[in-house]
Amino acid sequence: MFHLRAAGTSLVLDARGAAAFIVHWGPDLGDCDIAADLFIPAVPPSSIDVPLRLSLLPSVLEGWTGRPAMDGAGFRLTEAKLQDQTIFVRSTSIDGLQEVFTELGMSVQGVLRLRHRLVNRGDAELIIPGLDALLPIPAEASELLDFTGLWSHERQPQRAPLRHGVWSRESRHGRPGHDDAFLMIAGEPGFGFRRGRVWATHLAWSGDKRIWAERSALGCNVLGAGELLAPGEIRLAPGESYETPWLIAAFSDAGLDGLSDRLHPWIRSAASLRLPRPVVLNTWEAVYFNHDLPTLQRLADAAAEAGVERFVLDDGWFTGRRDDKRALGDWYVDPAVWPDGLHPLISHVHERGMEFGLWVEPEMISPDSALAAAHPDWILGARPVPGVAAAADVEPTWRWQRVLDLTKAYDYLLERLTALLTEYPIAFLKWDHNRDLLTPGAAHRQTRALYRLLATLKESFPHVEIESCASGGARIDLGILPLVDRFWTSDTNDPLDRQSIQRWTGILIPPEYLGGHLGAGTAHVTGRTSALGFRLATALFGSAGIEWNLTTASPAERAGIAAWIAEHKRLRPLLHSGRVVRADTPDPAQLLHGVIAQDRSHAVFALVTVGTPAAALPPPIRFPGLDPDRHYTVRPIGTPPRYMQDAPPPWTTAGSVTLPGRFLTEAGLPSPLLTPEQALLLELS
Ligand code: DGJ
Repeated sequence: MFHLRAAGTSLVLDARGAAAFIVHWGPDLGDCDIAADLFIPAVPPSSIDVPLRLSLLPSVLEGWTGRPAMDGAGFRLTEAKLQDQTIFVRSTSIDGLQEVFTELGMSVQGVLRLRHRLVNRGDAELIIPGLDALLPIPAEASELLDFTGLWSHERQPQRAPLRHGVWSRESRHGRPGHDDAFLMIAGEPGFGFRRGRVWATHLAWSGDKRIWAERSALGCNVLGAGELLAPGEIRLAPGESYETPWLIAAFSDAGLDGLSDRLHPWIRSAASLRLPRPVVLNTWEAVYFNHDLPTLQRLADAAAEAGVERFVLDDGWFTGRRDDKRALGDWYVDPAVWPDGLHPLISHVHERGMEFGLWVEPEMISPDSALAAAHPDWILGARPVPGVAAAADVEPTWRWQRVLDLTKAYDYLLERLTALLTEYPIAFLKWDHNRDLLTPGAAHRQTRALYRLLATLKESFPHVEIESCASGGARIDLGILPLVDRFWTSDTNDPLDRQSIQRWTGILIPPEYLGGHLGAGTAHVTGRTSALGFRLATALFGSAGIEWNLTTASPAERAGIAAWIAEHKRLRPLLHSGRVVRADTPDPAQLLHGVIAQDRSHAVFALVTVGTPAAALPPPIRFPGLDPDRHYTVRPIGTPPRYMQDAPPPWTTAGSVTLPGRFLTEAGLPSPLLTPEQALLLELS
C-alpha cells in the first residue's frame, strides 16, 4: 500500500495483487495506517467473480469494460516502489512482449503527475495504438466542466452532468486548438469558484490528444487522457520505448479556486519565470504589415514615453512578407523594407530603455516563398514517391500557408533563428503557429521536434524569452509551458471577450504568463467600442501590454495609459505572485475577481460588469479569500468607471474604508451601480 499526501490531498495505491489499483484520490485521509482490505468492494451479481477496481492500466482482461488504457493489451504488475513522493510501478503485458513503467507523483502542492513509458521487449516491431492515463473519481463528482472555443473566443466553459458513457474531447489540430478542452473537471453538482469538491485533469501535450470522463455502470468513474495517435504513428523497434505526456491532476475541496491554489504554486515552483514581467508594446494591431522605420520609431517613442519596457516587432519584417499570403520560411530581414537591417529600429528601441522582441512562425511555410521553391519536399505531407498523391496536394491551405516538416527543416530553422539571435540583440521571440496540422500521422514527431527546437534555443540563448502564440491562444498547455515564458492568450483585445477568456484560462495558468493587451477604443476583431478604463482594468492583471497605435491616441489617453503602466508596475509583484480568487457572484452580469498576497496582507480586486445587472440593486461586494482577523483598508484605484446611480453608496465617497476581513467577506460592501462593460478596481491593504 502506498499513500501520497500533500496539501489536503491523499492518493492511495494498492499494489499487493496482480495489478496496481488507485483506491483513493481526493481529500486527505490523515496520518492513519491504511488497512488495504477496507478498500476492497463487494462483488455484485452478474459480474466477474473478484472485486472490480480501476487499475493503473485497466483492460477487459481485468473485467474493466470501460475505455482501457491501451486497446488490445492487458498488463500484470511486476514491481512497485515509493521514492520521494513518487510511486514507480513496473507492469508486464500478458504476452511478456511489452513492459510499462509508470510514474505517479504528488507535489507538495498536492498536484499529481502520472505518465507511462512503454518498452518493446519483443523481437518484432510494435505499433502502439495509444496509451492513456486514468484516475478514478468518486460517484459524487457527477458534474463536468470543460472548455471549447473559436479563434478569438478561446476557453468557453461548458457544463453538463456526467451520465453513463464516455464524454471525450479530442484534439486533432496538431496543436491543442482554439476549442481545446484544456481541463476536464468533475465535481459535486453546483460546484463553483469557491465551493464544492472538484477533481481536474490536464494533459501536458501540445499535439493531438484526448481527455475524457467516463461514468460506468460498473460503478467506477474515471478521468483519463492521452496522446491521440494515428494508426502506425508510433512504431517501436525491439528495445525502443514510447513515453506518454504527463497527465496533470489536482483535487480541491474548495471549488475551482482551490485548483488554482494548487496548480499556480506548483507551476511557479517548477518553472523559473523571470520577474517582473516587462510591459510590452506589440506592433501587430498598430501597423500590421506596414513596416516603415520612421513610423515604428515614432511608435517606439510613444511607447517609451508611456513606460513600456519591451517593444515587439510583429509579422511583416522578413523577405517579401507584405501580406499574409507569402514568404513564411524566408527568415531573412527584408532588405527592401530594412536596408540597414533591423539595427536602426533596435538601436532606437534600446536608446529609449526598452528591450526588443521579434515575431516568428518557424513551423510554417508559404507555398509562395523561396524556401518552398528550394525545398518543396520540406512541406509536411509532401509527395514521398513521385507520381503518388501527396497529402500536401489534397489538404487545403490555411491562411494561405502550409506546415513545414520540422524533422526535415530542423537544421535550417535552427540556423536561421540562431543567426537572427546572434546578429541582433533580441530579448524575446513571439513564436506563432497559425494553422492546424492536417497531415495524418505527423503530429507526434512534429510536436517532439518543436519541443527539441525550443529547448535547444533556450539552451543556446538562455536570456531570450519565448511567447507561445497560435492564432491567439490555440497552444496553451503545460507541455510547452516549461519551454516558454508567456502565452498569447487570444487574438481579441476586446475587454468583454477578454474578461471571460482570461478568467477561465487562469484556472490553470498563473496570470504572469497570460499576455493581455490594451487595444484601440474600437476592438479590431469585434468592432465593439469600449471605455478606456474597462480596457485598462482588463489588461492590468496578466503580463500586460499594448497593441494600439499610440501615436493616434489623444494626450489625455496617453496620460491615462502612462498612469496605468505605473500602477501596473507598482502592483505586479502582488499580481504575479499572489493567489487568484474569483467570487461566485449570483448575477452572471457582475463579476468579482482579484489577487491576494500569499500572506493575505494586500489584495487587488476588480468588480466588473459584463452585461446589464439583473437587479436594480446588485448584491454587496463580498471579497473572498481575505484573512478574517485582519483589518483591511479598501480604496478605489485606477480609472473610475461609469456609474448610473442617483446617489452612490456612502463608503465610496469617503475615499477609503477600513474593516475586518471577516466583515468584508461575509457582509461585504454595498455595490456601486456600474453601467455595463465597466470595471472598478479596489486595492485592499
Ligand atoms: C496571429 C497572432 O495571434 C497575432 O497576434 C499576430 O501575431 C498575427 N498572427 C501575425 O500574423
